[in-house]
Amino acid sequence: MRIPLIAGNWKMYKTSAEAAAFAEEFKKLYHDTDVRAAICAPYTQLETLVKAFAGTGIGVGAQNVYFEKEGAFTGEISVDMLKEIGVDYCIVGHSERRQYFNETDQSVNRKLKALLETEICPILCVGEVLEEREAGRETEIVSGQVRAALDGISAEKAERIVIAYEPVWAIGTGKTATPEQAGEMCACIRQTLETLYDDVVSDKIIIQYGGSVKPENAADIMNMEEIDGALVGGASLDPSKFIEIINF
Ligand code: PGA
Repeated sequence: MRIPLIAGNWKMYKTSAEAAAFAEEFKKLYHDTDVRAAICAPYTQLETLVKAFAGTGIGVGAQNVYFEKEGAFTGEISVDMLKEIGVDYCIVGHSERRQYFNETDQSVNRKLKALLETEICPILCVGEVLEEREAGRETEIVSGQVRAALDGISAEKAERIVIAYEPVWAIGTGKTATPEQAGEMCACIRQTLETLYDDVVSDKIIIQYGGSVKPENAADIMNMEEIDGALVGGASLDPSKFIEIINF
């Protein structure tokens, strides 16, 4: 039985004061549900959110991490640093990091391995760009990203990874994949996982959809059999919109 995860991705939005205000508002609206909820925030807001959400069941995630344990890596944050402040999740390989910050399948793989040494749950993002979809290459691209990301990762560890299918053409564009398109791609990811491991493992892995998820389309998307929740950007910045998505 897979418990869906609905995670907000704040990207580079909200100061600490704004994050604290969000948390106060959101805690009033949030009630225990059948899904897990989390907010992935900028590094400087993580501690504020961990404290604010303590005891509520609402998780907190980072949006990136570096794979080395420590060292002369100016500007980077390690897994142990995240662990110390009590972070539950960490996004890895978001398309914006692949596009603007040279994130590659190899660095994604190393980041997953580093996170899986701890209890922090990685949220691995995969997805094709518009030209790849128009060329009919979306399944090849996405299953290739999944294979490369999971290279050398045991079944036991892979089970703990959440995968977010995020078609790049649907991120921040208001253009959502249809529930059928999203469902098909999540099924393709599960198929890839079955080939890499087996059906017992692939059945356990949470596969989310992300890309312009909002209160109006959340139910249609998340009611698809292969979709176990969502990674929500823009709509997670507003407590009332995000709670509507969680209560779909
Ligand atoms: P969006 O972003 O919901 O604003 O499209 C999703 C994401 O980038 O994770």
